[in-house]
Amino acid sequence: MTTPASGTAAELRTRIENDTARVGVIGLGYVGLPLAHALHRGGLAVIGFDVDRSKIESIEAKENYLRHLGDSMIEDLASSDRFEATDDFGRLGECDVILIAVPTPLGHHNEPDLSYIRITAEHIGRSLRPGQLIVLESTTYPRTTRDEMLPVIMANAPEASRDLECGRDFFVAFSPEREDPGRKDHSTSTIPKLVGGLDPEATSLAALVYRKGIAEVVEVSSAEVAESAKLLENIFRAVNIAMVNEMKVVLDRMDIDIWEVVRAASTKPFGFMPFFPGPGLGGHCIPIDPFYLTWKAKEVGCSTRFIELAGQVNTAMPEYVIDRVANALNDHAKPVKGSRILVMGLAYKPDVDDTRESPSFELIKILEGRGAEVEYSDPHIPETRRVRRHDLKMKSIELTPENIADFDCVLISTNHEAFDYGMVADHARLVVDTRDAMRAHHEAMGDRLVLA
Ligand SMILES: NC(=O)c1ccc[n+]([C@@H]2O[C@H](COP(=O)([O-])OP(=O)(O)OC[C@H]3O[C@@H](n4cnc5c(N)ncnc54)[C@H](O)[C@@H]3O)[C@@H](O)[C@H]2O)c1
Repeated sequence: MTTPASGTAAELRTRIENDTARVGVIGLGYVGLPLAHALHRGGLAVIGFDVDRSKIESIEAKENYLRHLGDSMIEDLASSDRFEATDDFGRLGECDVILIAVPTPLGHHNEPDLSYIRITAEHIGRSLRPGQLIVLESTTYPRTTRDEMLPVIMANAPEASRDLECGRDFFVAFSPEREDPGRKDHSTSTIPKLVGGLDPEATSLAALVYRKGIAEVVEVSSAEVAESAKLLENIFRAVNIAMVNEMKVVLDRMDIDIWEVVRAASTKPFGFMPFFPGPGLGGHCIPIDPFYLTWKAKEVGCSTRFIELAGQVNTAMPEYVIDRVANALNDHAKPVKGSRILVMGLAYKPDVDDTRESPSFELIKILEGRGAEVEYSDPHIPETRRVRRHDLKMKSIELTPENIADFDCVLISTNHEAFDYGMVADHARLVVDTRDAMRAHHEAMGDRLVLA
């Protein structure tokens, strides 16, 4: 049962419906930028907010800073009189709808770092006024929207807004992002969007906003359901990837090809979903988000054994891969120490330039630790950027027949489409493939190829 719409809600609803509502998107990164674009394309006026001045300058100069999104996205936004980007958070008061897509990383001890959400909530609080809808999109543990974000907004509200009531004068919801950078069959506007408010009015208003730019919006009964659903989605992936990685280790020992096994099992038309092994988990979500639940679970006296086991299996993968490299080199009468090794792919997944949590960094560090000389090649990442645990300060080398032949071993960590695998097969002395990228060349390579 829904409560009757307050006058404020009815006004906001009208503004959203007739495209006079102004939307603020806070955080113009992998999630925020395409979201701003989708809602702008749906007819709404959007202000993008970011603390990173270089992003705002890039937009103003029509320079694309997220290449996988294509150049037209920034071009469309920057050329429109319904979009502007700013780092002036005082302008949040101009926005009827505020969507938050700031980072939610882990701290040094794998604890949730909500500092970005809190700082953002302080800014929103200072500009709070009646008739605003605030939606958190950043992945986080259940009850963050209600127990962590809302109180900070209220504590920072100006004197005139102190008495505003959430659910009557302004509205708060959670809507998880399901962005999958690099995916070609879906975009922000085609991925169904979950929406759960702190009250039914907030759910319905947030759904109305998203329907402007997103084909399918699914309303759930609370912000907590929406927060938990996002964690379930990511934990599901982390656990299944760990399971298949564990199976890979067992099958390797028995000389059975795990990729062929997964493809064989995938022919079952129900009750199975393929997950493929790899050199470890990467990206901003899967290696991080599950630990948000682990941390929160302790508060209610529970442990999350599946999540922790999956974490152990997945984080052990880079060491496992390097053992395979060492054995492969040994079979070619070479020690790791002093060997020249080329890591193909630095991004955490194919065809993107995102290196966050990429296992390639671990692979390089472990190899260097064992005395190898390591270089990398990645057409999407000409030089390394600092990531959470590493600052490698390396430059990509070009993949040429001469370069490939110059290495004792080529280690495929990311299967970018742009790589010429035929050239690798023709010129490499030894290839260790963690992504099944060399499938077409198994026969030609013989014992120069090892799966890991
Ligand atoms: N990248 C993905 O594929 C993906 C998918 C689903 C969910 N998410 C979640 O979405 C959230 C955002 O992730 P992302 O990948 O877009 O991160 P990102 O780092 O690409 O973008 C975040 C942006 O927020 C900006 N920012 C940081 N602090 C800010 C502040 N106080 N005020 C305004 N802007 C600020 C940063 O400069 C950056 O531009 C995270 O919670 C993440 O877990 C990401």
